[in-house]
Amino acid sequence: MRLLVTGGAGFIGSAFVRMALRGVDDVQLCNLDALTYAGNLENLHPVAAGTRYRFERADIADAAAVDRVFASFQPDAVVHFAAESHVDRSILSPEPVVRTNLNGTFTLLEAARRYKTQRFVHVSTDEVYGSIDEPHEADEGYPLKASSPYSASKAGSDLLALSYYATYKMNVSVTRASNNYGPYQFPEKLIPLMIANALEGKSLPVYGDGMQIRDWLYVEDHCRAIRAVLEKGRAGEVYNIGGSRALPNIEVVKRILAATGRPESLIRYVTDRPGHDRRYALTSEKIGRETGWKPEVEFEEGLEETVRWYRDNADWIANVRSGAYREFYEKNYAGR
Ligand code: NAD
Ligand code: DAU
Repeated sequence: MRLLVTGGAGFIGSAFVRMALRGVDDVQLCNLDALTYAGNLENLHPVAAGTRYRFERADIADAAAVDRVFASFQPDAVVHFAAESHVDRSILSPEPVVRTNLNGTFTLLEAARRYKTQRFVHVSTDEVYGSIDEPHEADEGYPLKASSPYSASKAGSDLLALSYYATYKMNVSVTRASNNYGPYQFPEKLIPLMIANALEGKSLPVYGDGMQIRDWLYVEDHCRAIRAVLEKGRAGEVYNIGGSRALPNIEVVKRILAATGRPESLIRYVTDRPGHDRRYALTSEKIGRETGWKPEVEFEEGLEETVRWYRDNADWIANVRSGAYREFYEKNYAGR
């Protein structure tokens, strides 16, 4: 299979590329990535030298560049991860989010249509369902309700992707996963930020009362689910992918402090995120029934492995904390 992966230098995309190339499958893989602040080729170090891998630096919203990649690589399938993925950034600066997540997805869908690509998996998020009251859980038919420019852009791109099945009969599936964690995650998201700060003895900024609930999914479980959907998912269908581990943020933060041997006095309650969704909850019954997938990594085991990885890879953290990131960090936390 000739597999085009977009966003393969990011957190989840790079885990997927490492997994795909570790397998014995006969896969030729092309990673198309613009290398924004979140894209890091170091993440692919373990597999990048192989003959089954190639890298193309391109912006998914640049139709001519995307066309060149499709023309030369001629993919059989696309797994589309590339996105502006951080909610806080989308609040401070929505323009790149709309450009990449909406226009970029459109550009890829059009290229896949032109080149008659046989399979397209659009990687999306449970944030498109918005905040969900206890005791409910979203299934794939649950109404969409976006609270941030990020979730609105993902909801829009999901609908666009599904319309290419309805209109052009393209073989498109959409996945909607819950919060991922694991090695190589950029230290702007809750778990890696809190681990990095705890290891450095800095304060841990908890938004609002810290009682917001997220469902945690280990990144390798997510990647196995995407592979299952790529291979067995049906055209025009959406698949939820949850970690079956719902926890309030403050509980996650306290566990990180315990795992790093730091005191709870490092916790600092800061001004809440605007439009902050209180609770995400979804059922993954459909993907389990249709593909046999289920999450395998317990949160305790995954968190321990993640803390260990960040502890052992202080250089990686230092390298990704570039000038651009520091500027964002100052802007985001300055007023809180
Ligand atoms: P990330 O921010 O770590 O990586 C995004 C990657 O996309 C980077 O390599 C970046 O360089 C690339 N990229 C950004 N804009 C681009 C553009 N215009 N053209 C080409 N490449 C571009 O993101 P992630 O956390 O790995 O998320 C990957 C996907 O999974 C996203 O679509 C996100 O919405 C979705 N998702 C993420 C989570 C999560 O918890 N992180 C959960 C569910 C779904
Ligand atoms: O649910 C899936 C989504 O999970 C993905 O689609 C997004 O790409 C991913 O970024 C993530 O979004 P969240 O907004 O849930 O993740 P984040 O790590 O930014 O925040 C998790 C929770 O922690 C959220 O309730 C906000 C809170 N938080 C976050 C940060 C960065 C804090 O309390 N303090 C912080 O410093």
